[in-house]
Amino acid sequence: MDLPLFLFEYESKKLLVLGVETSCDETGLALFDTKLGLLAHKIYSQDIHIQYGGVVPELASRDHVQKLLPLLQDLLRIACVDKKNISAVAYTAGPGLVGALMVGAVFAKSLALCLGVPHVAVHHMEGHLLAPMLESNAPKFPFLALLVSGGHTMLVRVDDFGKYGLIGESLDDAAGEAFDKIAKLLGLGYPGGAALEKLAKKGSLGHFYFPRPLMEGAVLDFSFSGLKTCVANTIRSSDISNEQIKADIACAFQDAVIDVLVNKCISALKLTKLSCLVVAGGVSANEVLRLRLQELAQVKNFSVYYPRLEFCTDNGAMIAYAGSQHLLRGVAEQSLAVEVFPRWQLHSSI
Ligand code: KG4
Ligand code: ZN
Repeated sequence: MDLPLFLFEYESKKLLVLGVETSCDETGLALFDTKLGLLAHKIYSQDIHIQYGGVVPELASRDHVQKLLPLLQDLLRIACVDKKNISAVAYTAGPGLVGALMVGAVFAKSLALCLGVPHVAVHHMEGHLLAPMLESNAPKFPFLALLVSGGHTMLVRVDDFGKYGLIGESLDDAAGEAFDKIAKLLGLGYPGGAALEKLAKKGSLGHFYFPRPLMEGAVLDFSFSGLKTCVANTIRSSDISNEQIKADIACAFQDAVIDVLVNKCISALKLTKLSCLVVAGGVSANEVLRLRLQELAQVKNFSVYYPRLEFCTDNGAMIAYAGSQHLLRGVAEQSLAVEVFPRWQLHSSI
C-alpha cells in the first residue's frame, strides 16, 4: 500500500513519540523518547468480548473511542510529560479491524493536528517484529523473525530497518487463532492462548498425538486448519468433563503447534544462513515455545530474542518505537485524510 509520505528535516534527533495501537481489542498508548528510551506505556485489554467468545468489531471500535482519552491522560501523568512536549504521533494503520483502526487513526491525526506535530502510519506486524528492540539486550540486524499472533504467522527475513522479506506464512489459520479456537472448544474462554498453556501444564504427552502439518521438507509456509479440525474432532469424541483428558488434549495440541513453529525456524535459519532469531507476537509469550527455542539455540548455535511478556501481545510501545524509526529517517505522512489498511502487506509497508 502506498502512503503519501514526505521527508522531514529535524533540527535535532531527539523526538518524543506517542504510539497509538487500536488494531483489535487492545487499546495501547506509549511514549518513546529517542534519547531516553521508553518513558511509559498503558494497555487496556477489552473484556466486553468475553461473553461473545470472540472479538465483536463494532464493540471494539466503540470501546477504543471510550478509552483513548482517559488512557492518554493517565499515560501523560505517569510519564510526568506535558502533551506540548510530544514531538510526533505514530499509529497503527493496519492490518486489523477497519473500525478499530479508524478510531486510532482519527485520534492520532487529530492530536497531531492540534499539537502541530507530524504523524506517521505504522504497520502492526512491523511493530511486533521490532518490539525486542525495546529491551536492553536488543537483537542486531540482520535477523530472522517468527511473528506469531492471533491474525498472522510469518517468517520474515529482516536485513535492516524497513528491509523485510516474507519467506513463509500461514496458508490458513494463524497459530494464535488455532490456540483460541481449541481453547474455546475446551471451554477456556476468549482469548484462550494463555489459558490453554496453563491447562497444558497439567497434562502430559503420550495420550494423544496430533498431526504436524507441512512440517517436513523445505516448505516455510504454515497450515494450522487441518490440525485444528483434527483436535476439534478428538474433543467431540472425548469426555472433556474429565479434567485430565482435557489437559492431555491441550498438552498434545500445544506440542504439535510448537513442533511446527520450532522446525520451521530451524529450516529458515539454515536456508537464510542467519544466526539470530526474533520471536514476537502474542504466541511468543508461550513459555514452552520459548524454552524449546532456547534449548535448540544452545545446541545449534544461534541466538534468540523475545520482547518482554507485556510487549508480546498488542501494545503501544512497539508502535511508538517503530514510528520513531520512520521519523528518525525523515519519514512522516502528509495527508490528514483518514485512511487505514485492514489487509496491509508487511513488505509494502515502507
Ligand atoms: O499479537 P496479539 O496480541 O494480537 C494480534 O496481533 O493478533 O496476539 C494475540 C494472540 C491470541 O491468539 C492469544 O491467544 C495468543 O496470542 N496468545 C498465546 C499466549 N498468550 C497469548 N498463545 C499461546 N500461548 C500463550 N501463552
Ligand atoms: Zn498483534
